[in-house]
Amino acid sequence: METRTFYPDLGTDLVRRMTEGKGEKYFVLTLGCQQNEADSERIRGMAEAMGYSAAKEPEEASLIVVNTCAIRRHAELKALSIVGRFKAIKTARPETVIGICGCMAAEPHMVEHIKKNFHFVTFTLEPNRLFRLPELVAAALLESRRSFVLGEDDGRIAEGLPICRTSDHRAYVSIMYGCNNFCSYCIVPYVRGRERSRESAAVIEECRALIASGVKEITLLGQNVNSYRADMSFASLISRIAELEGDFLIRFMTSHPKDVSDELIEAMKKYKGKIAPSFHLPLQAGSDRILKNMNRTYTTAHYLSIVEKLRAAVPDIVLTTDIIVAFPGETEEDFLGTIKIIEKVEYDMIFSFIFSPREGTKAAKMENTITDEEKSDRMARLLAMQKEIALKKNLPYVDRVERVLVDDEAREGAGNFIGRTAGGKLVRFTDKKRRIGEFIYVKITKATPFDLFGEALNGNSNETIKNETRI
Ligand code: SAH
Ligand code: SF4
Ligand code: F3S
Repeated sequence: METRTFYPDLGTDLVRRMTEGKGEKYFVLTLGCQQNEADSERIRGMAEAMGYSAAKEPEEASLIVVNTCAIRRHAELKALSIVGRFKAIKTARPETVIGICGCMAAEPHMVEHIKKNFHFVTFTLEPNRLFRLPELVAAALLESRRSFVLGEDDGRIAEGLPICRTSDHRAYVSIMYGCNNFCSYCIVPYVRGRERSRESAAVIEECRALIASGVKEITLLGQNVNSYRADMSFASLISRIAELEGDFLIRFMTSHPKDVSDELIEAMKKYKGKIAPSFHLPLQAGSDRILKNMNRTYTTAHYLSIVEKLRAAVPDIVLTTDIIVAFPGETEEDFLGTIKIIEKVEYDMIFSFIFSPREGTKAAKMENTITDEEKSDRMARLLAMQKEIALKKNLPYVDRVERVLVDDEAREGAGNFIGRTAGGKLVRFTDKKRRIGEFIYVKITKATPFDLFGEALNGNSNETIKNETRI
């Protein structure tokens, strides 16, 4: 498929002429997943190109963008309530431009709702047409025009948008957009469109430039990275990136069990140290009948065979998953199937969600007789069990020395920092020096189900700490 590498920009210069010398500011609020975080970096990039600078609070901004999520009802309600709060800003300063981007802006009924009931919202913009942002801001400023961009996705990719990254040492690199899987509960294929992959050369070049600029961790992003299809497979792409010069780690999100290849597992083994020993492998449900109704197209046996191969190739791999509780028709027996797999796999962490019917999806029309009490009860049992497993998984880290990428200062005060191990576990630790963005060694002293605690060792990661490291 043809991918466009440059879109005509019809607004940036026009807006820049209007913002020049006025100290105009922008505020971007991000909800949802990593795809949205990556998109928000582009929204900020475009805002800066239009002459806006970052505001600390929305009240200071003359351009406010809310990047929304539609994955569950709760996410939508949250977005609407946040947007509602901006009405007062518009009333106080009518020239403020308020835009809604993200997955909710691709749902026709939501756009209609916003158009009718949120008169203070200037525009909505579906995610695959993000590059039109400057044009919409220009239309608002020049003609006071409200715009609603919906249903325009032409299946192509806009390359080369300006990016304003949030971190100097961690970066997201989108390798593909959209999804073709149509899991029966999921809104993503409807709001993000069909799957499309970026050209490998563009991805590799972006990674090379990031590493050269000092980035230490790159997360390759896609709804289903294992079905990356360009001139090479995902396993080849990640291997090419792992072969780049430099001291860095690669992560990737998300993998669909049906597409995890032996080639990828081999690459993780071969490039250990460069490809992070962690894998997010959404199970969703531990009952083959429910998996079938979810249109997940794998069985629990196939799923477990992948886990086995991953553990054989990368023994200390950190495994995480997503679980949907109370999918329509889930019986107690089906739920116990999920519990059984959780017990068997012993995940380091689980993200669990109560099924939320999404308008337009198949599962929204399925009969659901599970009571609210049953839903909460299943969720509580799952969480209690996972807490025990997570502690069991974290305790062996005590007394080990872990290589940690330092993220930030912790809120607890001076000398306290947070970072992540290669496997992606959060570590809270003390350090005499401020070494944000560096790989350092931390001696783990305590473990809880969700965090590790420790003390930084002196010296940096370039000095070999013999016998203690387990990278
Ligand atoms: N592309 C990723 C998932 C994206 S959505 C993948 O295929 O794994 C993240 C998670 O949200 C999903 O894995 C699923 O567990 C959950 N989810 C998606 N739709 C949902 C719904 N309608 N109700 C509850 N949870 C949902
Ligand atoms: Fe949704 Fe399934 Fe696509 Fe993931 S693979 S985004 S759960 S449809
Ligand atoms: Fe939400 Fe869209 Fe991501 S629906 S989870 S922001 S792809």
